Amino acid sequence: MTTRILTGITTTGTPHLGNYAGAIRPAIVASRDVDAESFYFLADYHALIKCDDPLRIQRSRLEIAATWLACGLDVNRATFYRQSDIPEIPELTWLLTCVAGKGLLNRAHAYKASVDKNLAEGVDPDAGISMGLFSYPVLMAADILMFNAHKVPVGRDQIQHVEMARDIGQRFNHLFGNGRELFTLPEAVVEEGVATLPGLDGRKMSKSYDNTIPLFGSASQLKDAIARIVTDSRLPGEAKDPESSHLFTLYQAFSSSAQQAEFRAELLDGLSWGDAKQRLFLLLDNELSAARERYHTLMNQPAELEDILLAGAAKARKTATPFLGELREAVGLRSFRNQVQVSGAGKKKAAKSARFVSFREDDGSFRFRLLDAAGEQLLLSVGFADGKTAGMVSKQLQSALELDVREHADGFGVWLEGACVANSPTFTEPLECQAAINRLREALAAEG
Ligand code: TRP
Repeated sequence: MTTRILTGITTTGTPHLGNYAGAIRPAIVASRDVDAESFYFLADYHALIKCDDPLRIQRSRLEIAATWLACGLDVNRATFYRQSDIPEIPELTWLLTCVAGKGLLNRAHAYKASVDKNLAEGVDPDAGISMGLFSYPVLMAADILMFNAHKVPVGRDQIQHVEMARDIGQRFNHLFGNGRELFTLPEAVVEEGVATLPGLDGRKMSKSYDNTIPLFGSASQLKDAIARIVTDSRLPGEAKDPESSHLFTLYQAFSSSAQQAEFRAELLDGLSWGDAKQRLFLLLDNELSAARERYHTLMNQPAELEDILLAGAAKARKTATPFLGELREAVGLRSFRNQVQVSGAGKKKAAKSARFVSFREDDGSFRFRLLDAAGEQLLLSVGFADGKTAGMVSKQLQSALELDVREHADGFGVWLEGACVANSPTFTEPLECQAAINRLREALAAEG
């Protein structure tokens, strides 16, 4: 089975070297795994929670999109989109908001930290806190549950949010699933092997410390940043301790073990810090220069980026649209067309529509029939080992976008995922057979 991996990138900043090593590079590697299906998206609705500067939002969306593509994300393999291009996400957010406990959200770290700060300052506990901040985890749950992600690679600060997505999804399954797992329950993955890069001053590389190395600045900007890396005051010729040098840590994140061994020996041997910085510059420039060029090309072609992202959104919506339809159905937002008619006074018989009837064969296998409104059999399923599979197949037939109908000598079969799951009655006349196919399609359309 393929594993669905999903992660979002909040679009408030410009990617730096730390983002590249810690998130972008591993995500792109993971997306190449044949057993994985990856969904990577720009969390631009989340960005609005933290930032009210439209120019910055727009610039960051463009830069982040260009960065991921320049770094080699293959959009034919991965699904790459902007959150705000998927209207199903805010719609699902509302369905989830209606089942998420307020008490659960009260415990979210980001919200609690803001409340604690207000309390410490002696102002109203909710001063400056928007509903967006409070509901942040619900929007994130919708991102994740919409695509039934199995694994969600995140930083440590986001683990709690993924757990909340699990809680909310579980509650929704319980309330509306009728025993079925509507949502897959996601798991956070924090990649232990991945480098957390130190910044220029040795603290974690982060925009908030202003100690970052730009990812796609020019070569001279890269050189300038490296020149500002803080080192100790050992002179050329004096032995340097690689283990206590964050310049060495940075070098390690981008080099082979042979290169590392050589660099370590040179430092111990008294390489000057100036030369050491030059080595690091060459290493990084070599790793980044081709991608940097692609990045600048892409940044100059915003219309093409737009097309790529819109195609990504269309691909994502192929899953999201029918799934949201199922969820609306589950909570009771259903078409009136299939509504049981209650007309006039007294007890009237409900108008009949097509229906699935399941039963068990003497040999223990499970089957179902699809009957039309008049009770005439449209389909008889093959035998299934258990009732759950039979139920799932009938559900899949109702929600299938395109029914795979295959005619044979004296009737037709209906196929799902490469196997025949049900057959029509026998027909001798091709016209009769065609008419039955039409009735089947109508019946399923009315059901679905
Ligand atoms: N909140 C995440 C962050 O700040 C970004 C994000 C939004 C996300 N939606 C997501 C991450 C869904 C993983 C899955 O890093």
